[in-house]
Amino acid sequence: MPKKIIVKKKLENFNKVISVPGDKSLSIRWVLFSSLAKGVSTAKNLLFSDDVLAAINTIKKLGIKVKFNTKECKIYGKGFDGYKYKKNIILNAKNSGTLGRLILGLIINSPYSIKLIGDNSLSKRDFKRIADPLSKFGVKFKLKNKKFLPLTIFGSPTLKSINYKENLGSAQCKSSVIFAGMRSSGKTFIKAKKSRNHTELLSKYLKLPIQVIRKKHYDYIKVSKVSEFKALNYDIPSDISSSAFFIVLTALSKNSKLTIKNVNINPSRSGIITILRKMGVNIILKNKKKYKGEINADIKVKTSKSLKAINCPTELNSNAIDEFLVIFLVAAKAKGISYFKNLEELNQKESPRLIWAEKILNKMGVKTITTKNSIKIFGNPNLIINKKIIIAKFLKDHRIFMASVIAASCFGGKWTIHDKDSINTSFPNFLKIVSELKK
Ligand code: S3P
Repeated sequence: MPKKIIVKKKLENFNKVISVPGDKSLSIRWVLFSSLAKGVSTAKNLLFSDDVLAAINTIKKLGIKVKFNTKECKIYGKGFDGYKYKKNIILNAKNSGTLGRLILGLIINSPYSIKLIGDNSLSKRDFKRIADPLSKFGVKFKLKNKKFLPLTIFGSPTLKSINYKENLGSAQCKSSVIFAGMRSSGKTFIKAKKSRNHTELLSKYLKLPIQVIRKKHYDYIKVSKVSEFKALNYDIPSDISSSAFFIVLTALSKNSKLTIKNVNINPSRSGIITILRKMGVNIILKNKKKYKGEINADIKVKTSKSLKAINCPTELNSNAIDEFLVIFLVAAKAKGISYFKNLEELNQKESPRLIWAEKILNKMGVKTITTKNSIKIFGNPNLIINKKIIIAKFLKDHRIFMASVIAASCFGGKWTIHDKDSINTSFPNFLKIVSELKK
């Protein structure tokens, strides 16, 4: 199978209803919670991707039985103390920062050291940000160059609770510390800069001892020791981060309409909707439903005739953190100069995405001014690309690949985009859906 694709045709004139796969954050969290529940948990529409498979393999290594096919996943949890810790376990988080960071909070009580490894991209990402707070529970870490994978965690069955200020807006760090708090005696207090709150909502749904006070910029979370909880059956809604590619594609394509069914629109995830509406994109939410603490809806979007630049409010950053690559494409076609700031976290993702955004936009002929945490995009409502563009060596970042396909499909040109397998991380049928829109 060739590892690169060529895109040389714009997509236009489509009017379709699609479904995208299950939410990645919820899928990984469901796997981890279910691995510690007492009894058999079943999920429908679990994302069948490499990141989720890595989570499944991880809990299997910890002695948990899993049965998985494309329709349904069953996890046979043995209770909150049900992991079987052995000597010399090596866990592989592959490409997944979420798995790599969250699992550390759960294995913190291991009596034996455990090694955590990841792929080339994950091995370039910051694990000090989670080793530091977890160390305060009374465990030790050894990290490559004090910051990176491979790391070894020297856990302890007796843990003391901590006070932790999470200042990056990282749901991964927050969630990992919540898990560790659930394993510790005493009360753990977390002051966390706003970020996605699936872990808190699932914990509440499971009636775990967690309290959350929500303030404007921070959430105050109190966690106590967990003893046992019941199995968790879950019907995973579709992923707004995967939907984002098609929302933007539709907004930027001529004469098109799209409905995306049953997408999780948790406000801590749906910043893209607020941002695009401010830029003039017509998005309607239909069939809103509450589901186990979350909110899901159908998203309807159509071609945008005129787009305005945005000075993007920074309080929307964490709610849209995985969607900026495609939001920037809308800015490329908007009238005026858009400004996105305080986005240093974008360079902490599967690849340094702010740097990559600039590279791609510049290849497209769009002028940008970029700093280490901001980007100004000089939009052009008449933007058309007529040249050859090559996108390669982006650390196999799935979202770089997919954003490039969307850019090619909206603006034209002849694009060669490498590392097509990267989509297996989060959205294995991405190209299939793109090709169905052509029919
Ligand atoms: C995620 C949190 C975010 C996000 C990632 C998924 C999660 O990362 O970018 O794709 O599921 O908790 P950070 O916690 O590093 O912001």
